[in-house]
Order: sequence, then C-alpha cells, then structure tokens
Amino acid sequence: MVGSLVVENQQSSADRDAAAVLDPDTFVAGAPFDALARLRADAPVHPVQLAGVPRAWLLTKHADVRLVSRDTDTFTSSKGNTLVEVEAGPDSALLPGIDPPRHVHYRKLINQGFTVRNVQRLEPRMRQVARDIVADITAKGEFDAVPDISAEMSLQVIADVLGVPREDRMEVFRWSNAIGSLGIEDPDYAPSPEALGKAAAEMFSYCNELVAHRRKHGLTDDILSALLAAEVDGEKLNGDQLNEFFLLLAIAGNETTRNTLSHGILALSEHPEQQALLARDREAVKPAVEELLRWSTPVLHFRRTVTRDVEIRGREIPAGDWVLLHYLSANRDEEVFGRADEFDVTRPDAGHAAFGGGGVHFCLGAQLARLELRVMLEELYANVPDLRVIGPPDRLRSSFFHGIKRLPCSITRG
Ligand code: HEM
Repeated sequence: MVGSLVVENQQSSADRDAAAVLDPDTFVAGAPFDALARLRADAPVHPVQLAGVPRAWLLTKHADVRLVSRDTDTFTSSKGNTLVEVEAGPDSALLPGIDPPRHVHYRKLINQGFTVRNVQRLEPRMRQVARDIVADITAKGEFDAVPDISAEMSLQVIADVLGVPREDRMEVFRWSNAIGSLGIEDPDYAPSPEALGKAAAEMFSYCNELVAHRRKHGLTDDILSALLAAEVDGEKLNGDQLNEFFLLLAIAGNETTRNTLSHGILALSEHPEQQALLARDREAVKPAVEELLRWSTPVLHFRRTVTRDVEIRGREIPAGDWVLLHYLSANRDEEVFGRADEFDVTRPDAGHAAFGGGGVHFCLGAQLARLELRVMLEELYANVPDLRVIGPPDRLRSSFFHGIKRLPCSITRG
C-alpha cells in the first residue's frame, strides 16, 4: 500500500511544519530548512498521520537518526524503507529491506564485490570519464550541468560497476532512469506503472544475459564477476538475487551521486572563493566531498518500523508505528555542526548522515561514491576553474530525493 502524502489532522504549527517536510511540492521552491529547524528545536520526535498507513514519527535530530539506525532489533527494515508499505519476500537478498541475521549473511556476500581493491580499480576509468566530460563542456561553453556532468558521471560509473559493455550503455541508462525514478513524484520523471514494469523486465533479462555471458566466457575482474564468485557458508547469490541486486545498484548509484554533484556545483558557484580553493589545491577536494554530501543529502529520509514499544525523547512510540529518519535535518543539526547552515568545504567532518546514521545498513556504495565525487571535482575545477551557474536551478518535486533537474551553467573563457 502506498502512503498517500496527505498529512491528516494538521492542528499545531509543528504539524504544519512536518506536513511541509513530507510534501513533495515544498521542495520545488527549495528544502524547508526553517521548518526543519523549528522541528529540531520544539518537536524533534513528531507524529504524522499519512492517509492509509500506520502513524509515522518524524525524527529530525542527528542523535536520534544514529540511535535508530544502529538498533535493528527495535527498528526493523523488513516492512519497507520508504512511504510504501511492503514486506520482504522470504528469499530476498535486497539489503535495504532485510534485517540481521539474514542481512549479515547477504551483506557479507555482496561485500566481496565491493572490496576497497575492486572500488579503487575503477579510478582510472572514472578519471577518463571525468576528462571526457570536461572536454565536452569546454567545447560547449554553455551547458546544463545535470545531464552533461552529474548524470553522465553517475551513469557511466554504475555501468562500469555492473560490467555493462559500451555498446549496451544507452539501454541500461534508459532503464535505470525509469526505475531510479521510482518514488519520485515529479511529473517530468514519474514513469507510468507499465513503463516501470517494462523497464524492470528488460533489465532483468539483460542482467541474465550478462551473467550467462560471464559464466560461459569466464569471469573478469569487475564487480559483477566478483558477485558471481562470492560465496558465504557454501551459498552463492542465485539468479533472482543477482537480478534484484543489479536493480538495486541501478537505483542506489544513480540519483544519489548525480544530485550530490549538482548541488555541489551550485553551492561552489555561489561561493567562488571556495571553488577557487578546489581549483588550486587538490588536497582540499577530499574534505570538500564530505561537505558536499552533508550539504546536499541526496536521500532525504528512510523509514523503519517499530517492533516493540519504545520511548524516544520522552515520546512513547508503540510497536507497529513508523519512524522517519530525516537525514537532511540531521545534517543541519546545530548541536553537531557549528554554523550548520553555512557551506564550508574546509569544515572538519563531524560525521554527516548522508550515507545513513551508521549501523548495518550504512551505504554499501559510500567508498565508491566518495571516490567518484572526488575524481569528478578534481578534474572539473582544475580544468574549468571559472565554471558558473547562470540561471536558477530547476528543483525536483520530491520529498524523498533531494534533487536538481536542470542547472544552466557556462564557462567564462579567459
Ligand atoms: C552520494 C551518493 C550516495 C548516497 C548519499 C547514498 C545514501 C544511502 C543511504 C542514506 C542509505 C541507507 C543507509 C541506512 O539505511 O542506514 C544507502 C544504502 C545503500 N546504498 Fe547508498 N548512497 C549513495 C551512493 C551509492 C552507490 C554509488 C551505491 C552502489 C553502487 C549505493 C548502494 C547502496 C546500497 C546497496 C545500500 C543498502 C545497504 C544495506 O542496506 O545494507 N549507494 N545509501
């Protein structure tokens, strides 16, 4: 069942703030930072009633997001992570929707694909993709940073991770864009249920072909091959589980890194002195990536379901209720980040929650995403120090992904 985004019984100002935070329309004009700040101050654990689904508690403090993320006994993921009510199938290996001990088992299997070595091996290719992007935008002079930089980088890297040959990439991009927009309420994106089903079916059958090809012609050194070889307690991933995982990566690695880059390009253009720092000092890029992640927080929230009665900050939450972990709010929590509303690429990392609040579900692709962001920023600002955003961003209508759809840019030729 889908939780309609209509928030019922809006009586107090905190009710109205919570409703604004969950309303996709709000985000078209920009994230509701004032509402989030008021909630953190006055109602950090606030109940909201969406139509047709259990009551949800909106958690806006960094400490509470961490606490819930790390307690999988009290807060289960097996009844869905978003405002859609689902129950994980008995054989599902879809990591975000299963709890320990099954989660530990499958995460161990999948981790064998995502070793530091396997991720680092992608760097030369990432750098080549980034250089091609820089050459393309330099030739254009004026361009839209979303398709030309952010989407291009994220999609090419995911295609490399999945081991998709060059000639098939356009197809895979098309499917991952259709599937990746699942849950986005933006009319520019939202595919029809039929289009979504068709894209998923085509992607599954493509994944089967890719796997069959690897099995017939031998494994290579890519992550897909590592996943095919991976084994824990004598068990390997079966065909359906590989399909599920292929789909998960296509979604998880697409909108996320894309939106971090787009928000980052916008924030840096608005802070030219910080952009100049990245252009002249490569060492400054690594810490800047953490600030970009904190600032953009591309996944706004995830959900857990309460398994036993629990109390958070004096509020009693009964078993069966939902809790919404608001990562964007956690990342602006003034108790954790000094001058939380200021963008500062030299800020020491205080443990942002863009990849989740820690614990077993912490983003599997975090190292890959960090590397990808660093490589893109290094190549971009060293070669195009005078990149400027020249028009307002067109923001995504979604209260789940913090997105930018279009970002007009230009390069001043010196
Ligand atoms: C800037 C980029 C990214 C951000 C902000 C991001 C954010 C997140 C967040 C918030 C979670 C949930 C954590 C939790 O429930 O505690 C997550 C989980 C996950 N992410 Fe990412 N992600 C990013 C990139 C990627 C990439 C590139 C991949 C893969 C190629 C990926 C794969 C996953 C997977 C598989 C999970 C589920 C892990 C589990 O439940 O064990 N992510 N990510």
